[in-house]
Amino acid sequence: MTGGARLAGDVYVAGAKNSVLKLMAASLLAEGTTVLTNCPAIQDLPLMADVLRGLGSVVTVEGDRVTIETPAEPSHIADFPAVSKLRASVAVLGPLMGRLKRARVALPGGDAIGSRPLDMHQNGLRALGARMEIEHGQVVGEADRLRGTTIFLDFPSHGATENLLMAAVLAEGTTVIDNAAREPEIVDLATMLNQMGAKVTGAGTSTITIEGVDRLSPTTHRTVGDRVVGGTWAYAAAMTRGRIAIHGVDPQHLATPLERLERAGATVTPTEDGFIVEATERARGVDFITLPYPGFPTDLQPIALALAAVADGTSMLTENVFEARFRFVEELARMGVDAQTDGHHASLRGREQLSSAQVWATDIRAGAGLVLAGLVADGVTVVNDSWHIDRGYPEFVADLVSLGAKVERHTTDS
Ligand code: UD1
Repeated sequence: MTGGARLAGDVYVAGAKNSVLKLMAASLLAEGTTVLTNCPAIQDLPLMADVLRGLGSVVTVEGDRVTIETPAEPSHIADFPAVSKLRASVAVLGPLMGRLKRARVALPGGDAIGSRPLDMHQNGLRALGARMEIEHGQVVGEADRLRGTTIFLDFPSHGATENLLMAAVLAEGTTVIDNAAREPEIVDLATMLNQMGAKVTGAGTSTITIEGVDRLSPTTHRTVGDRVVGGTWAYAAAMTRGRIAIHGVDPQHLATPLERLERAGATVTPTEDGFIVEATERARGVDFITLPYPGFPTDLQPIALALAAVADGTSMLTENVFEARFRFVEELARMGVDAQTDGHHASLRGREQLSSAQVWATDIRAGAGLVLAGLVADGVTVVNDSWHIDRGYPEFVADLVSLGAKVERHTTDS
């Protein structure tokens, strides 16, 4: 891509990757036809469809609509290749334990962004009465019955909260998840579960209460907009001194990242179906601290670093969620960024214009961050391994072109 363009125009953001994959897993909780709409055209979605097919579901993807026919008796064994290809496949553990009281799920793959243990998932299920082991690279769970209890999470893990929620909806009695994750995707999942007949209260707060029910019925549900994709476009507008109207994302779901953006000098205006970000001056350096929601999302960390790379002054970023994400800083350094990293901290002094280079995407968000950096570089930047981006951003290149970026896609690296 060739840097220099000011991005301007409209982007329409689809449903959230980190929601839809879990909503698909939740379909396992009820026999019959589940319909999900506003689904994003990302590569992880057909992979999750394959995971469900491997368990006996019939899955059809048509445009933004995913239809899942869940059998009366799904398989409890998920150990086929699709499972190891995506991290979110571990989200079938909770529904399988809830519905079948047994599960055998291969340990998942996903982004190389740091160690991702499953201890909180397993300990929570143990507290509900299950026997949980890791055997031959699989998480194996078995229970005679699941009984509600209070589960305290050491850290508000997104994935553990979802799995425990999906197991507890069919447990006997009342489960309380304390120190639960509060992300909008958790609220989305709880909303869908309640539409299915579950009794979940408190989603979006640190204490979620679940009254178990005997059975659930399938439903139709619209996936919440992707705040990470929306946040990426917001930062792209600020980095290129542009103006982007972002549709389909609730700005309240991005309160912290948008507050940082305003501090950097951009203007944020809410609209009926999203918000507009506009910047006329070079961004000022600001500090970022990643934290569980409602803190600054770790998934926007590379995007924040890309902004810092072109901001006026020094920015300090503290990463508190995934430790290995600073590999991205090494790629930014290829583009002439003056950066220091030390454990959980990165300090960057921005340059008004970056130096174009060959760079390598190491995960979804790092890939997007490098593309944004290339938009503010002096010549032609080549982002290798850009297939990572397709796992989380539908139509990324088409959207960039429609906003005026000079970017093209070569398929040699996928
Ligand atoms: C999800 C998102 C990911 C996002 C992350 C944090 C999906 C598919 N992925 O990942 O994009 O960056 O939330 O918002 O939805 N941990 C443990 N033990 C556990 C579980 C987690 O130690 O049992 C640790 C992890 O190593 C990590 C931290 O807790 O350091 C956060 O992980 P978690 O919130 O569980 O993230 P994921 O659900 O894996």
